[in-house]
Amino acid sequence: MSRLWIGTSWKMTKTLSEGRAWARGLVDHLATTHDGQAPAGVQPFVIPSFTATTTVAEILGEDSPVLLGVQNAHWEDAGAWTGEVSVPQAKDAGAQVVEIGHSERREHFGETVETTRLKVAAALRHGLTPLLCIGESAEVKEAGGSSAFILDQAAGALEGLSEEELSRVVIAYEPIWAIGEKGRPATVEELVEPLAALGEKYTGKVAGLLYGGSVNLENAADLLGIEHVTGLFVGRTAWKLEGYLELLAIAQAHAAA
Ligand code: PGA
Repeated sequence: MSRLWIGTSWKMTKTLSEGRAWARGLVDHLATTHDGQAPAGVQPFVIPSFTATTTVAEILGEDSPVLLGVQNAHWEDAGAWTGEVSVPQAKDAGAQVVEIGHSERREHFGETVETTRLKVAAALRHGLTPLLCIGESAEVKEAGGSSAFILDQAAGALEGLSEEELSRVVIAYEPIWAIGEKGRPATVEELVEPLAALGEKYTGKVAGLLYGGSVNLENAADLLGIEHVTGLFVGRTAWKLEGYLELLAIAQAHAAA
């Protein structure tokens, strides 16, 4: 089995000193307990705010087992796009992963299937891993349309990719109703069908199929046990380093089982 991707986006949290403390703590933990490597069977990743990208890159150091990402990037390489950051700029700052299409960006910042498609292509063009987030609203779920909706979101964003390009994409299924303070943790039963729909189409073709949305220390092992799930994308629980380290340990145990 490929490695379990376990990562966090800090969203719009953490000062530089808080980010430094988290990243240093992670590096120290891996140095003392894992000989500076990733826990066996696990691919850690962290996605700070843009302002902390280079700081975290420096702390992780070259050849770190922890992948570094950005929470968004523009599809053009450069130009008059005030307020935006391009994929080449993100790469220059040390990023290897580009998060694309998180539901908060779709809801508040006009991200569409078309812009996610352009951004996935831009990330791939520059050799970065697109981490494509998809997920349905509570209304869509209640109407029974979860699987069709997320398959459409994925197909739209991944349209036209070659097999080789698709093999470099990571998909994160994050139902909107399960994300953040306003969300509620999903039950395993609720997730089996949408993940099966995604898995039937993408398992073996993409680099990973992650689950995200109110992942915590109580449900992480069960979520990793759902068929087709190859990792977890985590907000609040991982913002405290202790929570993230616990998740790494849970994933390592799962990988070893
Ligand atoms: P949460 O965030 O873990 O705090 O629910 C998940 C996400 O938005 O990826």
